[in-house]
Amino acid sequence: MTDESSTESPKPPARVLSGMQPSGLLHLGNLVGALESWLALQNQYECYFFVADWHALSTNYRETQHIRRYTREVLLDWLAAGLDPDRSTVFVQSTVPEHAILHLLLSMIVPIPWLERNPTYKEKQEEIKGRDLSTYGFLGYPVLQAADILLYKPDLVPVGKDQLPHLELTREIARRFNKLYKPVFTIPKEYLTQFPKVPGTDGRKMSKSYGNTINISDPEPVVRKKLKTMVTDPARVRRTDKGNPDVCPVFDFHKIFSPQSIIDQVNRDCRTAAIGCIECKTLVGDAIVRRLTPIWESRAALAQRPETLDDLITTGQHKASRVASQTLAEVKEAMNI
Ligand code: TRP
Ligand code: SF4
Repeated sequence: MTDESSTESPKPPARVLSGMQPSGLLHLGNLVGALESWLALQNQYECYFFVADWHALSTNYRETQHIRRYTREVLLDWLAAGLDPDRSTVFVQSTVPEHAILHLLLSMIVPIPWLERNPTYKEKQEEIKGRDLSTYGFLGYPVLQAADILLYKPDLVPVGKDQLPHLELTREIARRFNKLYKPVFTIPKEYLTQFPKVPGTDGRKMSKSYGNTINISDPEPVVRKKLKTMVTDPARVRRTDKGNPDVCPVFDFHKIFSPQSIIDQVNRDCRTAAIGCIECKTLVGDAIVRRLTPIWESRAALAQRPETLDDLITTGQHKASRVASQTLAEVKEAMNI
């Protein structure tokens, strides 16, 4: 080490921010996707994680009665899985009004065509039939997301691939603001969460909207029951038929949750019909239960003390507000208001 480097003040750790909508109980796809990468990031970076309850209104404005409960369930799932509120700032979007104020201010400088050509805008509208999504709030969803992000000046935003257009838009909005007024905002980079494909019980991607999830708060009998109905290699009809694990979603689960020895065994014995699907599912159930048991235990402990969650929400609000209000002051100063 040179003298120079030893006298330098230590660089603050990079900052990370991400959010999740409270759309229901978290499932195994959320766990091995977003959540486990957050857990790894919180050991290394200064992290901000929040529940995007206002974003949930954009598609659920007619049925708002679940949002409050789901917000708490998502927080419980996060904590039970190991997100540490002493290390990371964990908060609820609607408790920090700066998000709404920055959303309003940014809306003044965002050209509508930027929003209209956002691919997720059209895709979601087509996907969610039967709900009128021709609202102002739905169109402006990415502006609110940009406000969420830019308030905390993060270096990295962990997101899945589907969120990349929103992040690109966030950068465009930040650049436009910095050029029009003053360079207030950091231009954030995405941190692509690489995760294995997690199938649902019907073999499609695990997703709440398909009703094919195994939730991380499902008790063991429910997990086992859902596995029983899970699709396997469709060509394997009888116990004596040889199977192909490469096309079987149960084997995808093995690859995620089972020890290597079991993966190898299933990979071999399925092809010769030495193992049946029922036994195979018992093995994968064992692995999932082993992974979820500590989460169930800490979730049960947390759920018994609701005031812990209230305290956490208040503490998170205060920690987040300190950063958010500082940035908002810079924004207002830059805009002369
Ligand atoms: N749009 C994100 C999703 O649906 C949730 C979200 C809202 C978010 N604000 C954010 C993610 C800010 C990252 C950063 O998953
Ligand atoms: Fe799938 Fe396992 Fe049945 Fe093979 S034995 S088809 S991997 S469930």
